[in-house]
Amino acid sequence: MSNVKFYKNEDLPLEMHKVRIVQKLNLVPIERRLEALKEAGFNTYGLSTLDVFLDMLTDSGTNAMSDNQLAAMMKADDAYAGSQSFARMKQAVEDVLGKQYLLPVHQGRAAENVLVRTFAKPGDIIPMNYHFTTFLAHTLEVGANIVEILHDDAFETSSTNPFKGNIDVDKLVDFIEKTGVDKIPFIRMEASTNLIGGQPFSIANMMDVRRVADKYGLLLVLDASLLGENAYLVKQREEKWKENTLGDIIKMMTGLADIVYFSARKLSSSRGGGICTNRAELHQKMEVIIPLFEGFLTYGGMSVREIEAIAVGLYETLDETMISQSPTFIKYLVENAEARGIPMVTPPGVLGAHVNAARFCDHLPMSEYPAASLGAAVYLCGGIRGMERGVMSSVRDEHGVEVPSDVELLRLAVPRRVFTLSQMNYILDRLEWLHDNRKLIGGLKWVYEPRVLRFFLGKMEPTSNWPHRLLEKFRADFGDSL
Ligand code: F0G
Repeated sequence: MSNVKFYKNEDLPLEMHKVRIVQKLNLVPIERRLEALKEAGFNTYGLSTLDVFLDMLTDSGTNAMSDNQLAAMMKADDAYAGSQSFARMKQAVEDVLGKQYLLPVHQGRAAENVLVRTFAKPGDIIPMNYHFTTFLAHTLEVGANIVEILHDDAFETSSTNPFKGNIDVDKLVDFIEKTGVDKIPFIRMEASTNLIGGQPFSIANMMDVRRVADKYGLLLVLDASLLGENAYLVKQREEKWKENTLGDIIKMMTGLADIVYFSARKLSSSRGGGICTNRAELHQKMEVIIPLFEGFLTYGGMSVREIEAIAVGLYETLDETMISQSPTFIKYLVENAEARGIPMVTPPGVLGAHVNAARFCDHLPMSEYPAASLGAAVYLCGGIRGMERGVMSSVRDEHGVEVPSDVELLRLAVPRRVFTLSQMNYILDRLEWLHDNRKLIGGLKWVYEPRVLRFFLGKMEPTSNWPHRLLEKFRADFGDSL
């Protein structure tokens, strides 16, 4: 996290912060964990935190805030209109993201709603490096669709490609020529492409995409929710940007986009979101929707206290010791898991460590949801709550048939500055035990499958009594350990 070398050559991520407020955790016995799984419909979203030891569901709204963020929350200006808290957020957006006009929204998906409603019409297709679940859902709701234009090797889970989030520019040009610009509302690039394992794009690639956008007169929209981490990996992996500050790199990326939107639940470690641009006409086009769905233009559904925290958090995104904490812990997890024979997505990405469930559970067919099953098993054996990022998080085709996902992953999120290194070692220990006993993991089937974003609220059940067999093996190996 910072340039500190150890005498004994160990490469450990050293924390550059101290913990001053703590929350006590519970690790309930495995018998209770099995009951909790049943109550949750074998869906980790259904678990109560009372039953969760390490909550690795997401990095969304679960990051540790800084002392300066908490202090700023105290001086928030409660006003429906013209709040000074909003003025401070607007200034931070201008300073850090380089955009003059800002629309506040209550979280990232609200920005997606505004963008899609403003620019997309039925029959349109939005090209992008890869979709995010809520962006896809909003697009489908307005009768439009998306197309993903990554390089062929982006779905290779074991890889040395440093920029798997890059758009394949030749394919993008082909797509535009075939589709026609009238049916393309904008091109979307997502920083640290979430669903393929938190994989970044390079600045060289974004520059190429910008040239294509200019040639065809198309808008380029950047999802900046994981922008700080993408900038950090550019600094680490893209030779040309090694000597630049995170601030330079962030401004370069946002400068290439016409519109930048973000979930502040990730970017700035608070809760809320925003859409920003330097183009007055685009701002005005989107502005009218804000009071309908979000609230007035100076709070957008957010608490003014969170708005203050966003402003401070945006400036803190420029601090490399802050932004590198989660990626270096993820790298530690991924490299040590791989060394123990556990199949992980490589190179290590951001947001979380991603276990390749298709390989971990290669005895399970896609139709039995290997990543969801692995998620249930990891919770059962360690009280560790991850999130399925595979076929369960995808959508059925128009005939209702399940489509195999491009990647079948269990994501173990590492929220910023929340966990300790010994907790990482506990995770590695439980993952290794589960990997040695992986043939005991069985499949899942639907009991209740909602129409939209089914992974949030869906309920499953095991295809056999495998959870009980796993519990018995745990007891045999660990005795009365929690
Ligand atoms: N874009 C990206 C890249 C995201 O990862 C998310 C959320 C959103 C947009 C939507 O933002 O949650 O504030 O509405 N990702 C969370 C996750 C939910 O767990 O990965 P939101």
